[in-house]
Amino acid sequence: FSLKKYNTFGIEAKAQQFIAVHSVEELKTVLQENANEKKFILGGGSNMLLTQDIHALVIHIDLKGKRILKEDDDFVWVESMAGENWHEFVLWTIDQNFGGLENMSLIPGNVGTTPVQNIGAYGTEIKDTFVSCEAVNIATQDLKTFTKEACNFGYRESVFKHEAKDQFVITSVVFKLTKRNHKINTSYGDITKELEKQNVVVPTLKDVSNAVIAIRQSKLPDPKELGNSGSFFKNPIISKAAYEKAKDLHPEMPHYVISETEVKVPAGWLIERAGFKGKRFGDAGIHKNQALVLVNYGNATGQEILAVSKDIQATILKEFGIAIEAEVNVI
Ligand code: EPU
Repeated sequence: FSLKKYNTFGIEAKAQQFIAVHSVEELKTVLQENANEKKFILGGGSNMLLTQDIHALVIHIDLKGKRILKEDDDFVWVESMAGENWHEFVLWTIDQNFGGLENMSLIPGNVGTTPVQNIGAYGTEIKDTFVSCEAVNIATQDLKTFTKEACNFGYRESVFKHEAKDQFVITSVVFKLTKRNHKINTSYGDITKELEKQNVVVPTLKDVSNAVIAIRQSKLPDPKELGNSGSFFKNPIISKAAYEKAKDLHPEMPHYVISETEVKVPAGWLIERAGFKGKRFGDAGIHKNQALVLVNYGNATGQEILAVSKDIQATILKEFGIAIEAEVNVI
C-alpha cells in the first residue's frame, strides 16, 4: 500500500498493511485484534519524513466531527475529533466568531496531532487555548483524558514526545475559545505589516486569519504543489554564553531572549547564512523563501532529504557552533 498520498512530503514508501478507522470504537477493535502486530499510527502525515517502508500495520486516524460542549457568556468549549483537517477547523471557529486559533490558520495537518508538538505560529501556540484531549491507550484500549497540565507543553514539545510516546492515539481535542472580547494578537511584526497593507485598522478574527494566510502563502510552499513538512528544524535555544561566542563572529545574528540564561536563534537565518537557501540536490532541496523548510521537488526519497538535513546540521555546527534539531519525526 503506497503512503505517498498520506504524507505531505509526498515520499513514496509502502505500508505492509493499511487500515483507516472512522470511530473510536473501530479504533479500539483494530488495536485489540492486532495486539501482537507491530503498529504505526498515522494522522495527517504533515510532520514526518518517511525514510523507509513501514513494516507494520499502519492505522490511519480518520475520526471526523466537531461540536460545542458548553458555553457561557464569554467562552465556548469546542471539541474536534482527531481526523478533522486543522485549517478547516480553524476557519469554522472563525466563521462562528470564536477567537483564539486565528493566528494558527493554514498550518497543515489534522487536529489530533496538534498537541503532540504544541503547534504554534505568529505569537500563539495551541497550549494557549487547549483544555484537554482524549486518547486511547494502545496496549489496553482504555480512553484517557489528558489535561493541559498533564500534556506538559513546551516549545514544540509535549508529553506525547516523551513519557507517553508511542503509547496513545489522540482521538479528540477540546479548546476554550472566546465569544467576545477577543484577544487579537498582532504582536508578530509581519502581521502588523500585512494588516497595514490591507488598510485594516481594527482587525477582526477574520482579518488576522487572512493576514496569516497571506504571510504563509508568500513564504511557505503549499504541500499540494511542493512536498514539505513545514519547518524541518526547531529554532535552537542556546545558552547566552554560546550566543555571545557566535555573535562575535556574526554580530548581525537575530535572536530572541528566552530567559536570563537562554536565547533562541532563528534556524532559518543560520541556514540561509550557511548558503543553503534555495539550493537543490537532485529532487531534495531547501525552499527559496524560507530556509527552515526542506522540500521534495517530485521524486526525492526520504533518505535523500535526510542526507540534506544532516549536511545542513553539520555545516551549522561547524560554522556557528550551534546544534540544530529536527522538528519533524524521522521514521
Ligand atoms: N530567517 C532568515 N531566512 C530564512 C528564514 C528566516 O533569515 O530563510 C530569519 C529572519 O530573520 C526572520 C526570522 O528568521 O525574521 C524568523 O523567521 P519567520 O518569521 O519566518 O519564522 P521562523 O522562526 O523561521 C517559526 C515557526 C514556523 C512559524 C513561524 C511564524 C519554528 C520551528 N517554526 O519559523 O512554524 O510559522 O515561526 O510564527 O518554530 C512549522 O512549525 O512548520 C512552522 C512553519
